[in-house]
Amino acid sequence: MKEQVLSYIETIKSVSFEKMDDLETFRIQYLGKKGIIPALFADFKNVAAADRKEMGVLLNDLKQAVTTKIDEAKDLIENLIQHIDSSNDLSLPVSKEIGTRHPLSLVRNEIIEIFARIGFTVEEGPEIEDDWHNFTALNFPEEHPARDMQDTFFIEKSPDIALRTHTSSVQVRVMENNQAPIRSIFPGRVFRNEAISARAHCIFHQVEGLYIDENVSFADLKQTLMYFAKEMFGENTGIRLRPSYFPFTEPSAEMDISCHICGGKGCNICKYTGWVEILGCGMVDPNVLTNAGIDAEKYTGFAFGMGIERITMLKYQIKDLRLFFENDLRFLQQFESAI
Ligand code: DAH
Repeated sequence: MKEQVLSYIETIKSVSFEKMDDLETFRIQYLGKKGIIPALFADFKNVAAADRKEMGVLLNDLKQAVTTKIDEAKDLIENLIQHIDSSNDLSLPVSKEIGTRHPLSLVRNEIIEIFARIGFTVEEGPEIEDDWHNFTALNFPEEHPARDMQDTFFIEKSPDIALRTHTSSVQVRVMENNQAPIRSIFPGRVFRNEAISARAHCIFHQVEGLYIDENVSFADLKQTLMYFAKEMFGENTGIRLRPSYFPFTEPSAEMDISCHICGGKGCNICKYTGWVEILGCGMVDPNVLTNAGIDAEKYTGFAFGMGIERITMLKYQIKDLRLFFENDLRFLQQFESAI
């Protein structure tokens, strides 16, 4: 019995606890009704008279060791709990780490500011669109390949409803709901059924522009876009318009800017041509004006549409589109702080 008690005392010295639950288990193990210490005390009557004094002292030592251990461990755990609580204290000063704005938000905001300075307001439209606003009103022929299942995410239950494939759909909504003159831009998310790669994604962002008034000409379009290119990419930026085709504009064009990296001399960003394409544009087709309830005899207008990812990639020389969607902090932290 003596050895046993001594070994208990040794064990108790070396145990430690992190949780109140563990401490309670320990207390029950030693001091509980059926615990070690009451059992030892019950055995005490069997101890030989000569050893009784020594065993009495030892048993008391053991009991003392257990109670001391419990008191100490309790203090320790309580301290620990208090420390954890204070790390949730809302009155403490905030961490010095601040977030950064997403590069796509920075560029979208910059585009909005540039156009706001020449009187363009901002409008938004729904991401889930009907065929009329996304295609039909925009003069897409019935058999146009852009309506194909390969490009468009349709809603299974209705072939009439799809995720918008471009922000041009907002043109129609704004013309339907407003009287001319109209001078607005429409930023937003668009969706296409494309395989994800460094150059393509199934979700991306566009900004659409629309200007409708009496006597709006192609010269107004050109001047507006030249102003935009210089504000966005620098005073020395040149623009070039190439004839193109879009169902909703006539004539249509694609606009290139002189490569802001090499200044037009040729580099791998502009593929040694000196020019990079940034947007599509044109004069709004009279059919579209009529479809959206605008008097095509009285009014003319221009429209343009650009991809925010594309502008951002050019501005910050980002080579892989997927970086915008991965939320890797090492990438995001390189941009302007949010405060
Ligand atoms: N909606 C076209 C696209 O997604 C871009 C575009 C081209 C918009 C010409 C326009 C425009 O407003 O006039 O590819």
